[in-house]
Amino acid sequence: VTGALWGGRFAGGPAEAMAALSKSTQFDWVLAPYDIRASMAHARVLNGAGLLTAHDLETMLAGLDSLAADVASGAFVAAETDEDVHGALERGLIDRVGPEVGGRLRAGRSRNDQVATLFRMWLRDAVRRVSVGVLDVVDALTTQAADHLDAVMPGKTHSQAAQPVLLAHHLLAHTHPLLRDVQRFQDFDKRAAVSPYGSGALAGSSLGLSPEKIAAELGFDSSAENSIDATSSRDFAAEAAFVLAMTAVDLSRLAEEIISWSTPEYGYVTLADAWSTGSSIMPQKKNPDVAELTRGKSGRLIGNLTGLLATLKAQPLAYNRDLQEDKEPVFDSVAQLELLLPAITGLVATLEFHTDRMAELAPAGFTLATDIAEWLVRQGVPFRVAHEAAGGCVRKAEERGVGLAELTDEELAAIDPNLTGAVREVLTVEGSIASRDARGGTAGTQVAGQLDRVRGASSKL
Ligand code: ARG
Repeated sequence: VTGALWGGRFAGGPAEAMAALSKSTQFDWVLAPYDIRASMAHARVLNGAGLLTAHDLETMLAGLDSLAADVASGAFVAAETDEDVHGALERGLIDRVGPEVGGRLRAGRSRNDQVATLFRMWLRDAVRRVSVGVLDVVDALTTQAADHLDAVMPGKTHSQAAQPVLLAHHLLAHTHPLLRDVQRFQDFDKRAAVSPYGSGALAGSSLGLSPEKIAAELGFDSSAENSIDATSSRDFAAEAAFVLAMTAVDLSRLAEEIISWSTPEYGYVTLADAWSTGSSIMPQKKNPDVAELTRGKSGRLIGNLTGLLATLKAQPLAYNRDLQEDKEPVFDSVAQLELLLPAITGLVATLEFHTDRMAELAPAGFTLATDIAEWLVRQGVPFRVAHEAAGGCVRKAEERGVGLAELTDEELAAIDPNLTGAVREVLTVEGSIASRDARGGTAGTQVAGQLDRVRGASSKL
């Protein structure tokens, strides 16, 4: 048996370059276990429709069982002549049960409905694995937040010193997008849980088979409403590719910060030896390669998404062979995240924070200027005026080379008559942070509540 699934109307085999172009076993082999499971369900449905005797069903299921074991052990692999995983597995089945029984399995199905179904099955499992890995990153971030509940740091906008915040608030800020990514994966699953099996090549099956039964057996919520849509749409794959890319982008934003934080200019963190690399020439180097590969690979995942969308955009209904290009980008996005997630989890979990350094920098760049303005507002001064006055304080302090709290009573009064020495009570990093205690703010009380909620949400996902 050669594994060819067609040939009746052809006088000769495909040209060598044709076969080479057509071949997909080098990447679609990961679908093999799903293909076999679906074949088992299909065999039962054939039997239910009176198209396969009980005896033949038994033979076929035993053959598929042994094929599954040989695929798992690596004893059965794709041959040079196999076009794709579906053809290869039919060859393997026929090798085991003979052409008389093995040749009956393909009735009422097409590789078009098969591959659309198997890809969904693979992807639903894959995003569950990825979600677990994302939640591990969230766990590492929340643990670091819990271990540094009092630590302060310079909060920035435009990469410039803005207002002091709690380190825990900043770390938790990275957990929220990641939790939303996991929610997006779960949302994706609702739409992916519709089985195309039974759609045939495009028009459905005439053999009285039950798509609903196969759908249920393969863990789908339902079977497709429209066989043309089911065999030709890949928005489920694009949706997954988007969430995978979004996850990579969210990790990349964190990675970018860790790269900066580990420079001597920042000095916020030291990376653990196990999660950094050295240089082949500069003996002193300790490089943040995990974070850089995260940042770099996020570009690759964005490319996988845009490439897939471009592949889809001009295809008429129904199945076109272009669709064979749908799998590699998505497989790759999953594979890259499966490499990244444990590494970034390890990197984050072992970051050593230099909280003294961060505390020292927290007020630098006059980050308490907003606190002066808000103190004035509490004295009844309009914010426009208060903003001007606080700006005047920054100008004066900069001119004298001192901090805002070092301005004298006379200097304050000269800037604005409402400014008295009492303003100094808000000119500490701790006071500034503690004052931002409305929901969502950086005050310790708020951050402690947030930490509990993040842990609760993460454990429910
Ligand atoms: N290997 C193909 C794919 O991945 C499925 C085969 C469909 N081939 C065909 N000639 N209809 O999309």
